[in-house]
Amino acid sequence: MGRDYLKVRVPATSANLGAGFDVFGIAVGTPADIIEIEKSSRIEIKVTGRDSEFVPVNPEKNTAGVVASILCRTVKITIHRNIPLSSGLGSSAAPAAGVAFALNEMFDLGYSKEELVQIAAKGEKAASGVAHADNVAPAICGGFVIVHKNRVLSFMPENIGIVAVHPDIIVSTRVARSILPKKIPLEDISFNTGSAASMVVGMIRGDIELIGKSMENRVIEEIRSRLIKGYAQVKESALDAGAAGITISGSGPTMLAVCRMDEREKIAQAMVQAFGENNIRSEAFITTIGRGAEIIV
Ligand code: HSE
Repeated sequence: MGRDYLKVRVPATSANLGAGFDVFGIAVGTPADIIEIEKSSRIEIKVTGRDSEFVPVNPEKNTAGVVASILCRTVKITIHRNIPLSSGLGSSAAPAAGVAFALNEMFDLGYSKEELVQIAAKGEKAASGVAHADNVAPAICGGFVIVHKNRVLSFMPENIGIVAVHPDIIVSTRVARSILPKKIPLEDISFNTGSAASMVVGMIRGDIELIGKSMENRVIEEIRSRLIKGYAQVKESALDAGAAGITISGSGPTMLAVCRMDEREKIAQAMVQAFGENNIRSEAFITTIGRGAEIIV
């Protein structure tokens, strides 16, 4: 039976993983947003917590409100934010994904995870103007996710160390997409296809070294790295400290390193220090590949 109140936890996510532009994503263990949903006579949004003053509460402009409207459900949505805004960690995707997941449960709507991903992606696009499902998909499914057309493939690799370091730099996804070329040379497509294919094998095998090496990519990272002060030094310091690989998380500016679980602290420290040497404050999330949205109450 449906319920009148639900509380869900929905994780931050990291899209692309290098060569899988708009195709790959992972859910991370931390940070995560907490979303409360109550039945109501209209769609209402309340936002608390981190960066909440910058998040629109107009349901037509809020990714979660748009999802409620697509699903024709009048609810009060309270978003307790922990995922930093415009960080490349899926901060606008998380509420869209969390509300799609929660309303499906609350009203027994019977949508599959693939269908919920499409609904959440529409919500994110309507509110943020950017169409890609590689954040909402891992936010719903958890683990490592491949989104391609209407297909959503996911599984949970275990014991993969993740260090996500978020520098105090603003990068808008819209700008980070607008600077990318519309055409890419064939040899760069071939290189990125090779990296993406190896990434899938690395994830299936739980092979941290292969996952790290498979983050190498052409064109995208080289161009977007110009928006991240200290990028080259942070990358070098992470690799020197033992990271198997490092890439820009989504459209940035967070940088995401993959490593053995016992090397995370050392790598996080090295990355934060390297940003510091570039006069950039940063915050490290020491985590792993995590679960998708889940009901906590
Ligand atoms: N795939 C998207 C991009 C993710 O790289 O623009 C945005 O977080």
